[in-house]
Amino acid sequence: MKGESPALNGDMDIMAKTAIITGSSRGIGAAIALRLAKDGYNIALNDLNEGMFENNSIADDIKALGVEAEIFCADVSKYDQCEEMVKAVKERFGTIDVLINNAGITRDGLMARMPEEQYDMVIAVNQKSVFNMMKLAGNVMIRQKQGKIINLASVAGLYGNPGQINYSASKAAIIGMTMTAAKELGSRNINVNAVAPGFISTPMTDKLTEEQKAKMLEAIAMKRYGTVDEIAGVVSFLCSEDASYVTGQTIEISGGLSM
Ligand code: NAI
Repeated sequence: MKGESPALNGDMDIMAKTAIITGSSRGIGAAIALRLAKDGYNIALNDLNEGMFENNSIADDIKALGVEAEIFCADVSKYDQCEEMVKAVKERFGTIDVLINNAGITRDGLMARMPEEQYDMVIAVNQKSVFNMMKLAGNVMIRQKQGKIINLASVAGLYGNPGQINYSASKAAIIGMTMTAAKELGSRNINVNAVAPGFISTPMTDKLTEEQKAKMLEAIAMKRYGTVDEIAGVVSFLCSEDASYVTGQTIEISGGLSM
């Protein structure tokens, strides 16, 4: 069966499992994909289209680590596209052991002036996608009697952020959905957790003005932005057996933004 290459930890009895990471052509998703590849997982990469992978070597970088990698294009806000993708990943790799719901967008603006479509779009991409993927990949995991799901929330979902009524709504919803899914899937040996990053340097946050960035920095206890690898490390832990009794939790990774 495909997807049964040995893991990289030297233990030949442990077979490689499969992780699917949405929105993984760049940023936090790409860092998580690389980290889970180092942990021995075969990687199902995802993004909107092939073009997102044109100027990067993420798939080759993963293969160089001795595991398999394949790109599955889908708009995760669309249920039918998620259905096709989950089916294709299962056919290609045989199992789906880890799902990372990472794909996300911002369309910032003050509530008073935000057009309805701008609100709906962020909810569809950030929130509906999590339902789509947790339902579809979760059903595969139920049949396998094991699995790990990690959802990317945000400090904006925990504490709110001016100019992000749509984004904070979607991320707060993800925290609630994480707890509900953890309760529904816990007895099936499936752990569901979320991470809530603070300010992490990525193409998403590069869009902020210098003034917004400086204001953020002031509020961070560690006086620096986070790195994508610092998110990937916590996600790796949550996927590991060391976190086997952790479920329904949201772990803030913000350098002490909220204290
Ligand atoms: P990014 O913008 O660099 O990467 C997001 C990826 O998702 C992109 O490659 C994009 O094409 C993809 N994507 C967007 N819509 C999609 C769709 N409908 N279907 C499939 N893929 C889609 O963003 P970044 O910074 O790496 O963020 C990753 C996650 O972490 C997001 O959920 C974001 O909300 C969350 N986050 C990021 C923070 C930061 O400071 N960068 C802070 C808190 C949370």
